[in-house]
Amino acid sequence: MADPVERYFDRRARAYDGRYDHGRLQRIIRPSLLRGREAALALARSLGARRVLEAGCGPGRLGEALLAAGVAEYIGVDVSGAMVERAQARLARFGDRARVIHAPVAAAPVEGPFDLVVALGLFDYVHDPEATLGRMTAECAGVLLATFPRWDVVRDPVRTLVYRYGYGCQIRHYDERRLAALLDRCGIGDATVETRRTGFRVTARVVPPPG
Ligand SMILES: C[S@@+](CC[C@H](N)C(=O)[O-])C[C@H]1O[C@@H](n2cnc3c(N)ncnc32)[C@H](O)[C@@H]1O
Repeated sequence: MADPVERYFDRRARAYDGRYDHGRLQRIIRPSLLRGREAALALARSLGARRVLEAGCGPGRLGEALLAAGVAEYIGVDVSGAMVERAQARLARFGDRARVIHAPVAAAPVEGPFDLVVALGLFDYVHDPEATLGRMTAECAGVLLATFPRWDVVRDPVRTLVYRYGYGCQIRHYDERRLAALLDRCGIGDATVETRRTGFRVTARVVPPPG
């Protein structure tokens, strides 16, 4: 049986994807959706990234922007089959420059090193953050960009209950201490952490161990 997160995103894939078609509205109600994609794109450009891995790629909107901007190879990983189908259809025009894999990030059959590894809006849903972030770090030889949700007193009391009792999903939140401990356990020492009302954005340079 599908896990609750997979089931939730299988049902929500179409509606989630559609959010990107209403940019002006989303800038007001969910500013982080477009801001995250813009930050990842700007970072890829400034690094001149050739290989990019996206953990929790959803419908492939970032992948599309990255490939159109000239990234040589993009691999997206997602646990939801419906999201994977959407991303594959969206990225088909890029041929073998794009691959989308249906798997949890921690167990995905991908091979680094990647110049840029990204996770936007993933860690709300991840029940094994250390294994997931650890895997992302292990495949990175460049820069890692990830967002982490922060408890927001306006958004989260109702949202957490709806996900828990409506969909059977446990939403996770981070505070400064919890995030710092996670980064530390994954060997991420030199990170820039930007704090916003609903989340943290972490940018870190990852130097692979010698050998
Ligand atoms: C909020 S969506 C974000 C999608 C995309 N990053 C974006 O910004 O448009 C979160 C995505 O993470 C996926 N996901 C959740 N847990 C996952 C896991 N452990 N491994 C892979 N994907 C996961 C969900 O299926 C969903 O597509």
